Amino acid sequence: MKIVGHRGNRQYDPENTLAAFQSAWDVGAAGVEFDVQLTKDHEPVIMHDERVDRTTNAQGRLCTFTYRKLRTLDAGSWFHEQFHGERIPHLQEVFEWAEDKPLTLHIELKPTSEDDALIDACLPILERFQCTHKVIISSFHHRLLHKLHLRMNGIETAILTRNPLRHAKQYASDIGAQAIHIRYTYQAANYFPYWKSQGLPTRVYTVNQGRIAKKCRRLGVESLMTDDPQRMINLFR
Ligand code: G3P
Ligand code: CA
Repeated sequence: MKIVGHRGNRQYDPENTLAAFQSAWDVGAAGVEFDVQLTKDHEPVIMHDERVDRTTNAQGRLCTFTYRKLRTLDAGSWFHEQFHGERIPHLQEVFEWAEDKPLTLHIELKPTSEDDALIDACLPILERFQCTHKVIISSFHHRLLHKLHLRMNGIETAILTRNPLRHAKQYASDIGAQAIHIRYTYQAANYFPYWKSQGLPTRVYTVNQGRIAKKCRRLGVESLMTDDPQRMINLFR
C-alpha cells in the first residue's frame, strides 16, 4: 500500500505549500496530494479552502484575488513562525519541484462553476512537463473529470467521493476514470475488496490511525492518504 502525504506533510508543515511537499518527500511518501483552484485571473494555485482566511494572513475568497496579489500573502506563519514567508504555490511550481522525483502527484481539482477555465489553466502545464505517468487527477466534480478525459485522453483520473457509489466500476468507466478515491468509513471499507476484485484501484483518505491503516492494507487499498506519512511508513516498516 502506497503512503501519500495529504496536502503534503500536513501534521508538521503548513498544508499545500512546497515546504509541506518537500517534507512529505523527505520522510519517504510515495506521493503528495494537493488541491487546485483558480485565482481571479485564472491561474491554477494550490489551496484547499474557498477562502484564504484559515491558511494565510489575509481574508476573502481566493477567486477574488489576482495571482499577483495572492503571491504577497504569507501561507506559512499561521502554522508556525518558522514558515514565515511561505507562498501559495502555482501548479507549475509543484511540477518544477517534482520534476526530478519519482513520486505521484495526486491533484484534486476543487469543484468550480468554471470547469473549462480550470481545465484550460491546467492542461498546458500537464502537457509542457510531459509527466502524465506520475499524475492522478481527482475531483468531487465528476462532470469536470469527464470533460478532462475528453480533452486529454491518457491522463489518469479518479472519482472522488465521500460515500460508496452504486456500480462504482461502471460509473467510473462512464466518466473515463480509472480509480476511486474515497473517505474512510466503516461502511465504505466493506466495498474495498470488491472494488479490488473488479480491478478498480481504491485510494482512501484521510487516515491517521494505525489501526485503520492496517485494516485498509488488509482489504486491498492501493494508496492511503494521511496527514502523517512518516508515522504510516514506520507502521509498515
Ligand atoms: O483527495 C482526497 C481528500 O483530500 C479530499 O478531501 O477535503 O481533504 O480535500 P479534502
Ligand atoms: Ca484534497
